[in-house]
Amino acid sequence: MTDTPRAAGHDTLRDLEFVPLTADDDETVGQWLEMLAEPSGDGSRSAPPCNVDMVGSLRFAPPATVLDDWVVRSGGTVAGSLRLALPEGGPAARVDQLLVHPRLRRRGIGRALFGHALELARKHGRSTLTTTVVESLPDGPALDAGPAAFAAATGAVRAGGSAGVHQWLDLNRHDPLADGVPATPAGYSLVTWGTITPDEYALQVSALELSLGDAPADAHEQEVRTSYARQFETMRVGRGRRAYHTGVVHEESGRLAGYTSVSKTTGNPEYALQGMTVVDRAHRGHRLGLLLKLANLDHVLRHEPSVRLLETANDEANHPMIAVNAAMGFEPYDRWVTWTAEVGPTAV
Ligand code: ACO
Repeated sequence: MTDTPRAAGHDTLRDLEFVPLTADDDETVGQWLEMLAEPSGDGSRSAPPCNVDMVGSLRFAPPATVLDDWVVRSGGTVAGSLRLALPEGGPAARVDQLLVHPRLRRRGIGRALFGHALELARKHGRSTLTTTVVESLPDGPALDAGPAAFAAATGAVRAGGSAGVHQWLDLNRHDPLADGVPATPAGYSLVTWGTITPDEYALQVSALELSLGDAPADAHEQEVRTSYARQFETMRVGRGRRAYHTGVVHEESGRLAGYTSVSKTTGNPEYALQGMTVVDRAHRGHRLGLLLKLANLDHVLRHEPSVRLLETANDEANHPMIAVNAAMGFEPYDRWVTWTAEVGPTAV
């Protein structure tokens, strides 16, 4: 049974204690996982958290990123959590999680967590705090406006530029493979692999991912040399995730012209995440993006027949990819909007 945090009274804020969250602190991690499993009640749609994945995330950060994880306790029990992501070398710190226990909201705990995030960002030498707020699409389901109201109350502002569109494919309602996988155009062939990228493709995958197919590999020479793909798969393996990839090889050059990646957590057999799809600019216009995604879905379902729901997110300005997703039956659900706050000088 889940322990409900002690009903907080007037002293909630005075009582708050910030504690670093580490994977080997079983009791705190257990309370954090229980809080994450609480229904959000805000209408947003996400895969249920997988415990193996979440605990793994405390040990294995994404490539070139440091994570700083905290919980806040009230009356000795976890009442909220904060994950600050610090991408290497950038001016910004990103709030990847700022969560208050659903039964302890509107008591100032969120504001206190945000203050802690600012303090940490300052300590890490970052000048800006960014975060993603889930908002309704104009013709999508109505979501709770609370997170945006909270962000505005902290002094953060909506960043200019485009938001992300979060789409879902429900295989119980759409079968994009009803007509099978389309034929591969002449001059190309498909290859598949699992979680670990074969040596022959590791550098090419890194170059494609970092350039999004728009720049030659040497524009990202340093990252490519250290192999982004290898760092990414170290994180996946550490989080207990399995991945499925399909690549398209340009036969004349023998080089990878594009690839796509789907991953899933150890838990939640029905859910999978459609990750990066990229086709090198020189090879666009042959419907390779749709081919890669359909062939890879076929690959996924051969190994993970329980998968029924796939989610993905793309910049809303990325019309070609959103159109490919729509052609497969992905439906837009909500928008991921970036908000930013200035970190400011040290508090006196
Ligand atoms: N509706 C309207 N305004 C709200 C709401 C809401 N549901 N929640 C907070 N606010 C605004 C109010 O102005 C509030 O001040 P008030 O209570 O004096 O009116 C102010 O934000 C501060 O509220 P807190 O009590 O500090 O916030 P709380 O502890 O309830 O936490 C949070 C808010 C973090 C959004 C919580 O609802 C939650 O965990 N939601 C799910 C995760 C999430 O959306 N995280 C926030 C992402 S945005 C960001 O990090 C900047």
